[in-house]
Amino acid sequence: MALEPEREIEPTEAEIAVHWKEEEYYQPPASFIAQANLTDPSMYERFSLENFPECFKAYADLLDWYKYWHTTLDTSHPPFWRWFVGGQLNASHNCVDRHLPRYRNKTAIHFVPEPEDEPIHHMTYQELWMRVNEFAALLRDFAGVQKGDRVTIHMPMVAELPVAMLACARLGAIHSVVFGGFSGKACAERAADCGSKVLVTMDAYWRSGTLLDHKEKADIAVEEARKLGLQIEKVLIWQRYPGRYSSRTPLVEGRDFIVNDLLREYRHRTVEPVRVHAEDPLFLMYTSGSTGKPKGVQHSTGGYLAYVAGTAKYYQDIHPEDVYWCMADIGWITGHSYIVYGPLALGASTVVYEGTPTHPDAGRPWRIAEELGVNIFHTSPTAIRALRKAGPDEPKKYNHHFKHMTTVGEPIEPDVWRWYYQVVGKGEAVIVDTWWQTETGGFLCTTAPALHPMKPGSAGPGVLGIHPVIYDEDGHEIPAGSGRAGYLCIRNPWPGQMQTIWGDPDRYVRTYFAKFCKDPNSRDWRDWPYMAGDGAVQAADGYIRILGRIDDVINVAGHRLGTKEIENAALQVQEVAEAAVVAARDEIKGIMPELYVVLHPGHQPSEELKRRIIDTIAREISPIAKPRNVYVVPDMPKTRSGKIMRRILAAISNGREDVGDVTTLSNPEVVQAIKEIVKSGRA
Ligand code: PRX
Repeated sequence: MALEPEREIEPTEAEIAVHWKEEEYYQPPASFIAQANLTDPSMYERFSLENFPECFKAYADLLDWYKYWHTTLDTSHPPFWRWFVGGQLNASHNCVDRHLPRYRNKTAIHFVPEPEDEPIHHMTYQELWMRVNEFAALLRDFAGVQKGDRVTIHMPMVAELPVAMLACARLGAIHSVVFGGFSGKACAERAADCGSKVLVTMDAYWRSGTLLDHKEKADIAVEEARKLGLQIEKVLIWQRYPGRYSSRTPLVEGRDFIVNDLLREYRHRTVEPVRVHAEDPLFLMYTSGSTGKPKGVQHSTGGYLAYVAGTAKYYQDIHPEDVYWCMADIGWITGHSYIVYGPLALGASTVVYEGTPTHPDAGRPWRIAEELGVNIFHTSPTAIRALRKAGPDEPKKYNHHFKHMTTVGEPIEPDVWRWYYQVVGKGEAVIVDTWWQTETGGFLCTTAPALHPMKPGSAGPGVLGIHPVIYDEDGHEIPAGSGRAGYLCIRNPWPGQMQTIWGDPDRYVRTYFAKFCKDPNSRDWRDWPYMAGDGAVQAADGYIRILGRIDDVINVAGHRLGTKEIENAALQVQEVAEAAVVAARDEIKGIMPELYVVLHPGHQPSEELKRRIIDTIAREISPIAKPRNVYVVPDMPKTRSGKIMRRILAAISNGREDVGDVTTLSNPEVVQAIKEIVKSGRA
C-alpha cells in the first residue's frame, strides 16, 4: 500500500485563527462536583499508556454483551485496529430493551416541534421500544433489509429519525444518515457511494416558521443516484403529520411508500435484535475532506458504542435521571454520538428539537429548557453567538438551571464563552469545550467537568485513554508550553476511532496516518499516530487550544464542508472557468466561505451571474454552503506549477494587508488587482 500523504498540506484556517491570550481558570461549582460521575483523579492513572489498551474494558463494561470478547485490541493489520474482538452485541438492545425493566415509563425522547403551539411528545422507553420494533419489522419484511445492508436516512430533526436509526441497528443494517439540510443531489452521492437501495425520508418539516417540502428532495435523490448507477428501489416516507401527506410531490407508484400507512400491518410486531460482532459496522457518516468526494466514515458497533457511552457518562456527566439536550442535528456526528447513542445507552432522557434556536425568538431554547427541566445543555459556538446577538438578556427571563453545558465544533471566543457561562449558565454550570471529529466517534480533548478547572477558549487535555501529541512539520514533538503550533495527533488507537473509509481503505491510511507513520511495516500501534488535520497549541498546563483545519476543510457555523465540494459546485455554472474557496472570519458563523472565480473568455461579471453561482451551490450542496461573497477576478494567484495559492486569497478575504510571500507566484501582479476588487466589492 502506498504510504503517500493525500496531498500537500497548506495551512488555511489555522493561519487565520484568532490568537487570544491565556485566560484565567474557572473552578467547577461544588454542587456539580458533589454529584459528578468522574471525581476520582486516579482514573487518569488507570487510563495511562501503561494500562493501554486494557483500560478500555471499563467502557465496554457499560454495555450488555451477548458474548464477551476475548481480545481487547487486535493490531495485526495496522492501522485497521479491531476492538473487543470476539464480542457480540446489539446497539438497539443496549439503547432500548435493556432499560425496560427499570425505565419503561421514563421518557427516552422529548420531541419538541418547532411550532410552539404543537404539544411536545414525551416518548417513553416502552414506546420507543415498540416503535423501533415495528419499523425494524417493516424494514426487514417490506423493504427486504438484512444485516450488513446500507440504508440511507435523509430526515429532519424528529423522533422518527432515532427510531429509524435504532431499527437499522436492530437488524444489524448499516445506517447512513444524511443531514436533512443537504440537497437531494448530495443525498444521492452518499447513497450511491454505499449502494443503499432503500431511502428513508419524511414528507415535510418546520424550519424558521415554514413547513418545508422535504419529499421533493427524495425525487431528485433517486434521479441523481440513477445517473450514478444506483437504483433506489424503495423510498419510505414518514408523514410529519400522521394521516396527512404534506408534500406537493406525487407518490411514485411501486417506489414511494407512506411509512405511517404501512405500519398498520406491523402493529405490535417485535423483532429479535440481531447479534452482531463488535467489529460489524453500525453506521456510515459522510464527511468532507481534501477532495471533492465526501468520505464515508465507518464506525463499528462495539468500540463506538462503548466509547460514546463512556465519554457521555464521564464528560457529559449523564445520569439516567438527567434531562439532556444537545441542540446539534442528528445528521452530524455530534447528534449520532451525543443525542442518540450516548444518552440512550445510559438510559437518559434526550431532547430532539425540530427547528431553529431563534424561532420565534431568542428565548425559545430557554423556554424549552425551563419546561422540560433540562439540566445538561450542549450546543455550538455559532448557536451561542447567534443567541447572544439576538437576545443577550433573554436567558435571565427564564427559570432554567443547567448543571453542565457543552460547546463543540469550533473554537469559542473567550468573550462568548463568558456570556455562555454567566448568562446562559447563570454561573451555576460547569462548561466543557469538547474537541473531536466525525472520524473519532467521541470526545478526544476536554476538561473532566468535576476535576479540571475550565479555561475559556481551550479544549483541555486528552480525555481518559487519549494521549495527544503535537508534531512539527518533520514529526518532532512540540513541547507543551512552547507556544508553538503544530499538527495535533493522537499517539494511540481508541475504541471510538473510525474503522475505515467505506470503499476506500487506502484513502483512510493516506489521510490520517501517512504523514507521521514511523514505520509502515510495523504492527506496533505506537508507530501509527492518528493525524487529526487540525493545527493546535498546547499550553504548559497541558490544555490544548485548537487553531483550525490545516487541510481544505472549513467549518461554517460548525458544519463541516470541503472547499473542493463548493468549488466543484461553482464550476457547474457554465461561465466559470476556475473557482477557489477560502475561509473568511465571520462575526456570527465563525467562518464563512468566500468564493473567487475566473470566467471563461468573453464573459463579463454581473450580479445575475453571482446570484446564479450562489443558487447553484445551494442546490448542489445545501444553503449552508453559500459563500458570503463571490469575487470575479481576472486570474488566480498561481505558483509556477499552476497551483492556486488559496493562502493569498484567504489573507485578502480576511483584510490582511500583508498577504505573505508572493515570490513563488508566476503572476504576482494579480494580487493587487484582486485586492482592489475585494475592496470595492465590500464598499
Ligand atoms: O477543526 C475541528 C473542529 O471541527 C472539526 C471536526 O468537524 P466534524 O467532523 O464535523 O465534527 C464536529 C463535531 C465534533 C475538527 O477537525 N472542532 C471540533 N470541535 C472543536 C473544533 N474546533 C475547536 N474547538 C472544538 N471544541
